[in-house]
Amino acid sequence: MLSAFQATAILAFASSVLAAPAQVCNDATYPTQIRLAYSNDRAMAVSWNTKIKMTKPTVAWGPDTHMRDSADSDVSTTYQSSTTWNNHVVIEGLNPDTKYYYSPECGNVTYTFTTARTEGRGTPYQFAMIGDMGTFGPDGLSTTVGKGAANPLAPGDLTTIQSLSARIDDFDLVWHVGDIAYADAWLKEENGGYAAPLNTSDFGMEYEKILNDFYVEIQPISAVKPYMVAVGNHEANCDNGANFTICPQGQLNFTGYRAHWNMPFYKSGGLENFWYSWNHGMVHYITFNTETDFLNAPDQPGGEGVEDAGPFAPFGAQLAWLKADLAAVDRKRTPWVIAAGHRPWYVSTTEYIECQVAFEPLLLEYGVDLVLHGHKHFYERHSAIDNGTAQDLNNPTAPWYIVNGAAGHYDGLDTPTLPLVPTSRDIIVAYGWSLFTVHNCTHLTTEFIASGNNTILDTATLYKDRTCALN
Ligand SMILES: *[C@@H]1O[C@H](CO)[C@@H](O)[C@H](O)[C@H]1NC(C)=O
Ligand SMILES: *[C@@H]1O[C@H](CO)[C@@H](O)[C@H](O)[C@H]1NC(C)=O
Ligand SMILES: *[C@@H]1O[C@H](CO)[C@@H](O)[C@H](O)[C@H]1NC(C)=O
Ligand SMILES: *[C@@H]1O[C@H](CO)[C@@H](O)[C@H](O)[C@H]1NC(C)=O
Ligand SMILES: *[C@@H]1O[C@H](CO)[C@@H](O)[C@H](O)[C@H]1NC(C)=O
Ligand SMILES: *[C@@H]1O[C@H](CO)[C@@H](O)[C@H](O)[C@H]1NC(C)=O
Ligand SMILES: *[C@@H]1O[C@H](CO)[C@@H](O)[C@H](O)[C@H]1NC(C)=O
Repeated sequence: MLSAFQATAILAFASSVLAAPAQVCNDATYPTQIRLAYSNDRAMAVSWNTKIKMTKPTVAWGPDTHMRDSADSDVSTTYQSSTTWNNHVVIEGLNPDTKYYYSPECGNVTYTFTTARTEGRGTPYQFAMIGDMGTFGPDGLSTTVGKGAANPLAPGDLTTIQSLSARIDDFDLVWHVGDIAYADAWLKEENGGYAAPLNTSDFGMEYEKILNDFYVEIQPISAVKPYMVAVGNHEANCDNGANFTICPQGQLNFTGYRAHWNMPFYKSGGLENFWYSWNHGMVHYITFNTETDFLNAPDQPGGEGVEDAGPFAPFGAQLAWLKADLAAVDRKRTPWVIAAGHRPWYVSTTEYIECQVAFEPLLLEYGVDLVLHGHKHFYERHSAIDNGTAQDLNNPTAPWYIVNGAAGHYDGLDTPTLPLVPTSRDIIVAYGWSLFTVHNCTHLTTEFIASGNNTILDTATLYKDRTCALN
């Protein structure tokens, strides 16, 4: 369950662990930024932040509010320039599809979670998908903007977090497909006269503040529903580029993203929070990394970006893992295979051909049903697509593609390039999120929900002619 990153951080602090007395609870150990992630159907990852290192991060849990069991770990890590420590515990020995109560140590609030359904369970359920969100309020998207930004919220609009909260009983998990906190927007906000500098030579102090604010803002969702993440370009560095003068050492090369989350790479042979998979009922979910770790990957030196980040594994490791993961899926038990990665290659504006070249052949070869992307700040539903050729949703052989990077964020919405690409079926330039319903072996429906007023603006259903062995 330890990533290489976490293990290194632990070694560095091993001596203080051995010497440390039992944890005293106070303001510095109060759990904030509480977040869940699926592990497998019999385990759940619980993570939270504290202002100091926890001796032995511990979570009380149980089937009722007495929470008589506990789980712990040695994983309490930080990095240079961070103001908090990231604590990670995985609760094992749970039953599938079961509600539990839990509370991280030194807290005063009891939360609940529900474990994933075992693969092969045919019960219908829903999941939420968002892309490109960031904070709402004075250091993110609000009813005003600074110079060079656009599309503020209209007075009275719900934020995407409020819109998701209003429907929280309807979905089992949230999948945030990259560009998570937009903490790197601080520089643009200050330059645009929107956010006052914390300090005229703040050099990234505002970055950590926005990260902390964001993770507190999503807690009403992430503390009660698994919040699964993919990496995006705005996770790379503190300044949306890699100016080593501006970004302190801890704010380069995806450091905060690596430390903060605990995705189930450790159950799926993946790599940290970069690529991993999990099952839930009828679905096999795959998160892949469009930023680093393949030929011409955009955030790597030599790629088209300026992030100067990665790689995180030997060349070829991500695609070898993806191929093996896809080959091992039992389509009678998890008929739906859904893959998500940040940058789109079918979209009515800049397309990421290097990502298409890397990932599309495998997604086609193994009959992936649905591919989700963010990055572009609008919603665009496509047809199913086989190497540029559209297929309709009535039993296609190729994956169905949906781009939705419209959850929010200071910079506003993007303008599609006209004419729309031939595979485009609907495009909506408004803040919103996607709700998916997995009905059964053959039918899966999407809805686009405008965050501002919780209205459904688009819906479509994919049909696959097949038989399954569900129970
Ligand atoms: C829990 O403790 C925090 C921090 O001390 C405090 O702000 C909050 O009001 C408390 N909440 C409850 C429900 O007691
Ligand atoms: C501003 O930042 C500099 C450099 O990090 C630091 O020395 C100084 O104490 C900060 N000032 C304030 C008011 O926080
Ligand atoms: C990096 O930021 C520093 C401080 O603002 C600035 O002086 C320098 O020109 C920047 N370098 C680049 C390559 O943008
Ligand atoms: C980013 O971190 C990885 C893992 O530590 C390292 O292998 C890689 O060289 C780093 N990339 C850059 C550009 O510093
Ligand atoms: C996809 O189509 C292009 C031409 O549009 C072709 O050059 C390429 O080989 C095709 N790729 C695959 C994997 O079939
Ligand atoms: C699967 O779900 C769809 C949508 O609810 C429904 O129309 C269809 O009849 C269902 N199929 C079976 C075999 O129940
Ligand atoms: C809800 O918001 C969307 C996006 O701004 C807008 O297009 C739509 O007209 C609104 N619907 C209602 C019922 O207000």
